[in-house]
Amino acid sequence: MCKKGFFITLEGCEGSGKSTQLKKLEEFLKESGKDFIFTREPGGTPIAEKIRAIILDGKNVEMADETEALLYSASRVQHVKEKILPAKQSGKIVVCDRYIDSSFAYQAYARGLGMDFVKGVNVYAVENCMPDLTIFLDISPEDAFNRKGGADKDDRLEQSGLEFHKKVYLGYKQLAKDNPHRIAVINAKQSAEEVFEDIIKILKKRQIIG
Ligand code: TYD
Repeated sequence: MCKKGFFITLEGCEGSGKSTQLKKLEEFLKESGKDFIFTREPGGTPIAEKIRAIILDGKNVEMADETEALLYSASRVQHVKEKILPAKQSGKIVVCDRYIDSSFAYQAYARGLGMDFVKGVNVYAVENCMPDLTIFLDISPEDAFNRKGGADKDDRLEQSGLEFHKKVYLGYKQLAKDNPHRIAVINAKQSAEEVFEDIIKILKKRQIIG
């Protein structure tokens, strides 16, 4: 089990403003002198980044949903063992851009593999390293796509279209409902400043920052 430190994950649909909020959070933690690392999934270590390149390669159109779920999980095990757990055990705040809830929302709900399958292939992460806090940036895919200005044609996942992303969104909503203590829901339709204020409120409430 993770004992020391604190593990925070940020989740949301494409275009939910995650990158903007991560930047703001990084600046904030730097200024407050906290001991932290930022990382991302899929990826986060050299091996996991190689797996990321296979998963996100727009040419890999034949990839089976199960293969995709297993690759995310393989990338995650490497990331957890090599980077997340050591950092957390040394007392650091670990902030991760996407983690297991992405597998639940995208692979279990949207691809339709189901929670049992996805939990099963992610047993290492589930048993050893669940997030202490997950921040879900809540904005519908319609609103998110409009804000982003449409999908990126080279990204295999973003080619999946609006119907897929609606399922992802409903998946996240269900996960938030099922895990109210771990997942904090933030209204991401607000301005970036307001969203960040809400994130800071949550971090204070959980006593991660003073
Ligand atoms: P990325 O370009 O990092 O997307 P974003 O900027 O939206 O975070 O690509 C990551 C993609 O991988 C994104 O579409 C979500 C997807 N994903 C899964 O489907 N399952 C997972 O377990 C993870 C971590 C990501």
